[in-house]
Amino acid sequence: MLLTGVSGGMGSALVHYFAEREYQLVLQYHTDKEDLEKLLHSLNPTYEPQLYQADLRSEEAIVHLCSEAQKIYGTVDVLINNAGLSASSMIWKQPLDQWNDLLQVNLTAPFLMIKHLAPSMRYHHYGRIINISSVVAQLGAVGTSAYAASKSALFGLTKSAALELAPKGITVNTIALGYMQAGMIHELSEDRVKDIVSGIPMGSLGNPKSLAAMIEFLASEEAGYVTGQILNLNGGMYG
Ligand SMILES: NC(=O)c1ccc[n+]([C@@H]2O[C@H](COP(=O)([O-])OP(=O)(O)OC[C@H]3O[C@@H](n4cnc5c(N)ncnc54)[C@H](OP(=O)(O)O)[C@@H]3O)[C@@H](O)[C@H]2O)c1
Repeated sequence: MLLTGVSGGMGSALVHYFAEREYQLVLQYHTDKEDLEKLLHSLNPTYEPQLYQADLRSEEAIVHLCSEAQKIYGTVDVLINNAGLSASSMIWKQPLDQWNDLLQVNLTAPFLMIKHLAPSMRYHHYGRIINISSVVAQLGAVGTSAYAASKSALFGLTKSAALELAPKGITVNTIALGYMQAGMIHELSEDRVKDIVSGIPMGSLGNPKSLAAMIEFLASEEAGYVTGQILNLNGGMYG
């Protein structure tokens, strides 16, 4: 299982969940290796998942990451495109560089990860690809035009990639996450979080473990008949 964005809030919860269950992991981080190493060491000092630094805005870095992962395990059977970038800006103030960065990390990187892992998955007639999107792509939110645009584009990528890869037994799905207890939510003010929670039918932020469990199912052999889907995990906010 290759997991991107593992130093983030959701990423480290996913590492915790899958490392505890002794999945063979290839972990991509961007800037923060120390916390990740502490987490892994606390779970099991002898467990040695492969850690790779990569800036996912670079195709060269992605090619390197994919080929290293394939060298170790022969193929990558499960890809989780979890890394993501958010930024708050009104559209009339948003610098083009920021817009481009968000599209690069949230949309182009998942496309490139799929592009460079698909040949080996096709060869092995097996693969599970899971993209992480957001309820913001479905509802919109003030200050999130670039984020929402990049995350909703994942829906189209998922549906077309699923059709292209289905003949070789490869599934492609996207989980559209609502507001969770970890990660990006910490960029918002306390008042904004209270306001958001008041709009969630379940009345609370989501537990990252529920994302991990949903991924575990989609990554399993038994989920081979689920493809091209946008699965909502949002406490009833949308869907
Ligand atoms: N938490 C939520 O409530 C929520 C809700 C909906 C959707 N999501 C989605 O869930 C996923 C995980 O988000 P999170 O909440 O865990 O956010 P987070 O804590 O901000 O983590 C994001 C991760 O993406 C990595 N990343 C950012 N730019 C990168 C780049 N150029 N190259 C490589 N990695 C890069 C970050 O690494 P660095 O920090 O080292 O750059 C970090 O590990 C994202 O796709 C997000 O859109 C989260």
